[in-house]
Amino acid sequence: MSELEAIKNAPFVATAFGVSVDALFYALVIVSGAMVLLVSTLIVVFCVRYRRGRAADRSTGRFYGRHLEYVWIGLPLLIFLSFFAWGASVFMELQKIPENSLRIQGVAKQWMWKFYHPGGQREINTLHLPVGRPIVVQLASEDVVHSFFVPHFRIKQDVVPGRYTHVWFQIDKPGLYRLFCAEYCGTEHSQMRGAVRALSATDYSRWLDSRNPAQSLTRAGEQLFRRLGCSGCHAEPSTVHAPDLTGLFGRVVHLSDGRRIEADRAYIRDSILLPEKDIVAGYEAIMPSFAGQLSEEETLKLVSYIRSLNSSGTAP
Ligand code: CUA
Repeated sequence: MSELEAIKNAPFVATAFGVSVDALFYALVIVSGAMVLLVSTLIVVFCVRYRRGRAADRSTGRFYGRHLEYVWIGLPLLIFLSFFAWGASVFMELQKIPENSLRIQGVAKQWMWKFYHPGGQREINTLHLPVGRPIVVQLASEDVVHSFFVPHFRIKQDVVPGRYTHVWFQIDKPGLYRLFCAEYCGTEHSQMRGAVRALSATDYSRWLDSRNPAQSLTRAGEQLFRRLGCSGCHAEPSTVHAPDLTGLFGRVVHLSDGRRIEADRAYIRDSILLPEKDIVAGYEAIMPSFAGQLSEEETLKLVSYIRSLNSSGTAP
């Protein structure tokens, strides 16, 4: 089967989340359509019935006074507020990342998508994934705002320079699904396309084995950690008074200005690039900034390494 055929044969929606999005969308279209129909029909009916010169009864009956107004204000309000609640609950699903998710790192740049699998397998513009298990794609941008968009999964997530974003989904059906950049990001924005190839669990592990697992992000991060001299202060034995990074990930850190902050990926990234932002209580602001010296990819490697210094980390 050719690529194009495979894409054409892809199921209309490939995630359970997509099914909920579609249900909400169709319900909204149906109810809004019914409202439009009702209001426009009444406009026509009333125009004809109460046109000038027609001897129609223009008095208001006892019930059709204020009560009718209560109904036509209250009922649509309730109906559309329930849509708000429904939409919010679907949106909240996107915020709850399952613990056992497969973590894929994605870096967007003008104009391509780079992906890293936990074992170190790398790919560009095509993303191989297993079906039937939750996947979280953690996204960073090397330059401008991009957007990770897979229509068949009904997900779209902006990729913003200077911060980490993520999106999770679980693919139900194997197939080839198009991946787009959905944010105008320069001349070749329209060429910034790719595909998600969803495989069965066995095919996925076979694919992983067939790829030469280059170096995992964590291993590469460890080397970078030494090369950049981070280990000179942050590892034993060091004479410099610097915070110990073992077990840091996911812990609550007390800062010198009294704030408490959870050491997530964003915090570690900021600590490398903007060390003056969050000074750990009891330490001096002596760390040099690495902003401008590291690519997003290198920063990801360091974050991945620091994360690996404790095994319990599950937060994104
Ligand atoms: Cu990247 Cu548009």
